[in-house]
Amino acid sequence: MSLYHKPPSSNYLLKAKSLCKSYYQPLQIELLRSIDLTVLGGESVAIVGRSGEGKSTLLQILGTLEDPCSGSLEIAGTLVCSSNKSFIRNQLIGFVFQSFHLLEDYTALENVLMPAKIARCKIDKQTLEYGLSLLEKVKLADRAHFSTKLLSGGEKQRVALARAFCNRPKIIFADEPSGNLDSHTAELIHQLLLEFVEEKKALVLVTHDWNLANLCTHQFELKQAQLTRIIK
Ligand SMILES: Nc1ncnc2c1ncn2[C@@H]1O[C@H](COP(=O)(O)OP(=O)(O)OP(=O)(O)O)[C@@H](O)[C@H]1O
Ligand SMILES: [Mg+2]
Repeated sequence: MSLYHKPPSSNYLLKAKSLCKSYYQPLQIELLRSIDLTVLGGESVAIVGRSGEGKSTLLQILGTLEDPCSGSLEIAGTLVCSSNKSFIRNQLIGFVFQSFHLLEDYTALENVLMPAKIARCKIDKQTLEYGLSLLEKVKLADRAHFSTKLLSGGEKQRVALARAFCNRPKIIFADEPSGNLDSHTAELIHQLLLEFVEEKKALVLVTHDWNLANLCTHQFELKQAQLTRIIK
């Protein structure tokens, strides 16, 4: 039985309704209060806000990596639940973590192809070439066989982005995707993310960089547990 049924009437790639999140230990903090967010194919959303407001937490909940205390989440027309979450995460979502989360004992190429490996795809010559082409996109083909522990912070960030593209996701969630990059390399990364959206896919990112936020179709601020659309 397939766990992924997309109703033909649904245009939303992401539909979050009434998401709430609080932590109770070691301190009670309310981070998200009844957050609604919808994103269509071809749309990009930038979330800005001060440090500690809960942006990464929100992105991880939207990306099915963390559970909300309450609320619902649909990805590409499918209601996320415990039985389909890992399928959705692996097949429909690409995630770029703020702290990269690369496997340090593996090479850049192995890291990029890890989502394919998790999906039990055969890592044949064609797949290796595909992984290399993703590294070429982020200008790291010459580091393909380097263990990621030998890479610089900005190089790790670019490997993390290439990995997010691996399973041809419908939505990419990116947490400060150009936070460690010089302006030239940051521009390249911004271009790649926006090209992805042009293919009628969706992008939700967190950034402190207004150059990047302004390239997105919508901007929101997370402040005092509420997500507010910034109207320009
Ligand atoms: N598992 C947890 N238990 C308790 N508190 C947590 C937990 N995870 C995060 N927090 C707290 O929640 C708050 C929001 O964290 P989060 O990482 O989402 O912020 P952020 O907006 O992404 O900040 P930054 O811009 O610095 O990356 C922080 O104060 C953090 O200490
Ligand atoms: Mg963060």
